[in-house]
Amino acid sequence: MKVAVIGTGYVGITTGVTLAYAGHHVTCVDVNPAKLALLKAGKAPIYEPGLEELMALAAERLAFTDSYAEAVPEADVIFIAVGTPPLPDGNPDLQYLQAAAAGIGEHLGDHFTVVVNKSTVPIGSGNWVEALVHEAFEASSRGDSRVAGRSKLSQERLAVASNPEFLREGSALHDSLYPDRVVVGAEDQRALETLYTLYRPILEQTFTAPSFIPRPEGLQAVPFIATDLTSAELIKYSANAFLALKISFINEIANLAERVGADVTQIAKGIGLDARIGTRFLQAGIGWGGSCFGKDTAALVATAQDYGLSMPIVEAAREVNYRQRERIVEKLLAELKILKGRTIGLLGLAFKPNTDDLRDAPALDIARRLLERGARVRVHDPVAMENTRREHPHLALSYCETPEQVAEEADALVLVTEWAVYRELPWESIARRMRRAVLVDGRNFLDRSQMAGLGFRYVGIGLNPLEPQPVRVEG
Ligand code: UDX
Repeated sequence: MKVAVIGTGYVGITTGVTLAYAGHHVTCVDVNPAKLALLKAGKAPIYEPGLEELMALAAERLAFTDSYAEAVPEADVIFIAVGTPPLPDGNPDLQYLQAAAAGIGEHLGDHFTVVVNKSTVPIGSGNWVEALVHEAFEASSRGDSRVAGRSKLSQERLAVASNPEFLREGSALHDSLYPDRVVVGAEDQRALETLYTLYRPILEQTFTAPSFIPRPEGLQAVPFIATDLTSAELIKYSANAFLALKISFINEIANLAERVGADVTQIAKGIGLDARIGTRFLQAGIGWGGSCFGKDTAALVATAQDYGLSMPIVEAAREVNYRQRERIVEKLLAELKILKGRTIGLLGLAFKPNTDDLRDAPALDIARRLLERGARVRVHDPVAMENTRREHPHLALSYCETPEQVAEEADALVLVTEWAVYRELPWESIARRMRRAVLVDGRNFLDRSQMAGLGFRYVGIGLNPLEPQPVRVEG
């Protein structure tokens, strides 16, 4: 099939590359010339493991352009995957979606086309996208020449569908090739059938698995969930809100565990092995960040408000999450008593490992809070330092090339992002370099007794504080 993808952000590029790899002809449209130049040269505009390799394998079926006229008229399926960043009131900014719908409407071909929205949108936007495409179509010269163009277009040539995305950054390709399910919402049966055909190689797992993204053992078929448009849109929000509240729940328990002398990692295991609860997304720590959970929970609350509803559970999950960042500052205060003039090192800036994405990253929030209290903040991240410098030039951070430099004469280290390389650091030498060997492990990532054995005062999240630990202060 012929596919157009509008927007080459995380979702767009992953969708485009995955479908091209699965055998379709895909043209990706983006208005950003720098991004296009990179993509045309076979380079990934984001840090995502395996992306460039898969782009290379799919190269002959994958094109990039800034022109709707090149991509849209031939396409059987057009994905809209443009950004919908949050506005201050929590609602998503829909200007890019509007522009994409207009570009599509102006260039729609003469055959049946399904426009699929992959951008996260307020519930009910599917109908609105359809209206925008119609308006643009009718405003174009082709539309003018048609009598009753709108109904003709809607019945014969255009259907709108919602196909929410559940991919996780850092494992986006794995999640796209081997999803737990594919959800498609549409009112038009032909649209559902078209998308079933499009996804067939994924649903039936008939493609050859790339060597660097192996197929999970035992995966033979992927469920296809066909719903109405609005249910598909709400599935996306509900999935993200549920995962977000699962994390906030375990963080709330972590805070209590610390007080009563229990260990949250054991509690997570103890409850998670109940199949009704499940072990995943029960890792206590600094809390969630990233482009989805914060934005989607805010949008859910805002949508409910439009209907005169409150969503106290989702609101509480948000409150617990953002309070968790302040808990790190409280822990540092408890250890150091005064933060003014102290040097605090942050290990990890990206909101999670294997990405250079800084959206809603807890590290930035924690850094800001520490700077406000007069601390000096040193930072290190294996891939996200350049983005931090560029996107947050006003944050007075000291960027360090190595974790050892971060530790030099520091009063405390905070492990913010659990990059695998941080497990293998020369921790003994790091402890020796520090003025005070205080280590706040914001992800309960390192081995507590090993760190204590190396002379660290180890502070985790939701761990029993009564376990004896040495404190070593230099000088
Ligand atoms: C998430 C959803 O998982 C995905 O389905 C959706 O499409 C987009 O949002 P992503 O934001 O890429 O994906 O990352 P994810 O792995 O879900 O982690 C989100 C945040 O939660 C990270 O900051 C992570 O550190 C945190 N997290 C995750 C926890 O604090 N504890 C956990 O147990 C799991």
